[in-house]
Amino acid sequence: MSLLVCVSRRDNTKLLEELRAQLPGVDIFEWPHCPDLTQVEFVLAWNAPDELWAQLPNLQVVQSFGAGVDGIAQHLLPEHVQITRIVDEHLTNDMAEYVLTHILAYKLRLKQYFLQQQQGIWKPKRAHAGSHVGIMGLGELGRAVAGRLTDNNFTVSGWSASPKSFAEIDTYFGKEQLASFLGNLDYLVCLLPLTPSTKGILNKSLFSQLPSHCVLINVARGQHVIASDLIWALDNNELAAACLDVFTNEPLDDEHPFWLHPNITVTPHCAALTSVATACEQIAHNYLSLMNNQSLANTIDRAKGY
Ligand code: GLV
Repeated sequence: MSLLVCVSRRDNTKLLEELRAQLPGVDIFEWPHCPDLTQVEFVLAWNAPDELWAQLPNLQVVQSFGAGVDGIAQHLLPEHVQITRIVDEHLTNDMAEYVLTHILAYKLRLKQYFLQQQQGIWKPKRAHAGSHVGIMGLGELGRAVAGRLTDNNFTVSGWSASPKSFAEIDTYFGKEQLASFLGNLDYLVCLLPLTPSTKGILNKSLFSQLPSHCVLINVARGQHVIASDLIWALDNNELAAACLDVFTNEPLDDEHPFWLHPNITVTPHCAALTSVATACEQIAHNYLSLMNNQSLANTIDRAKGY
């Protein structure tokens, strides 16, 4: 029985060190350096290549190295394989802080004043007025963001695929209620899981249902947005601005029009970075639970895909 780490596009030295410290005596390998893939029952994955899964006949658990599980090709995994993800108060706190900060930065015109300072321009303006935020996706992260915003006197509405209800926020669900949810928002935050039904959901038709002064904040996945529709909406006054932390290709291509668009703020997928220390605690806990036939923490619903 062994644990395979297949976390792409990052230096995993610290992660492996911490995992080995938390799980002494366990055989831990880093893809592609694994002497016997038939021994692997537990994989820690982030953007793992599709061809990996067919080589693991004894796979029991895939643990995502993050909150999202969309980088795991679920259709290639047998039904009995459990998928789990990191749920961590640091992640939720960082996400809530990021969203609040970017909403306040827009509201208080920080980018505008920063550009004015560079040109020595003194031109005060009242802050943007609206404070109604809509959150698409009411999982752990969406709820944490909603709480942080209501604590800071924002009015929050939430939308999700199935009905959900929480104190202090109006909730909407399903396609039928999407238009009423979008109709009077000042900010729209996307925190949806990426699934076949949410891919491309931030498109021309959705933007046209928002008030034209609305600001989009996408902290979910790049694939939620149709990039050309977003640029069209911004250039045609269907939307005021966008703050994007996630992109279909990361790092964002050098030539991508998002970089230089005056109404787009780009950040490098930094809203909520998985902390190695807390992630390793959860991974070790789940690994030991698997060994002891106990139930795992933070498993997803395989039927729903999240
Ligand atoms: C980051 O995007 C994550 O899914 O944790």
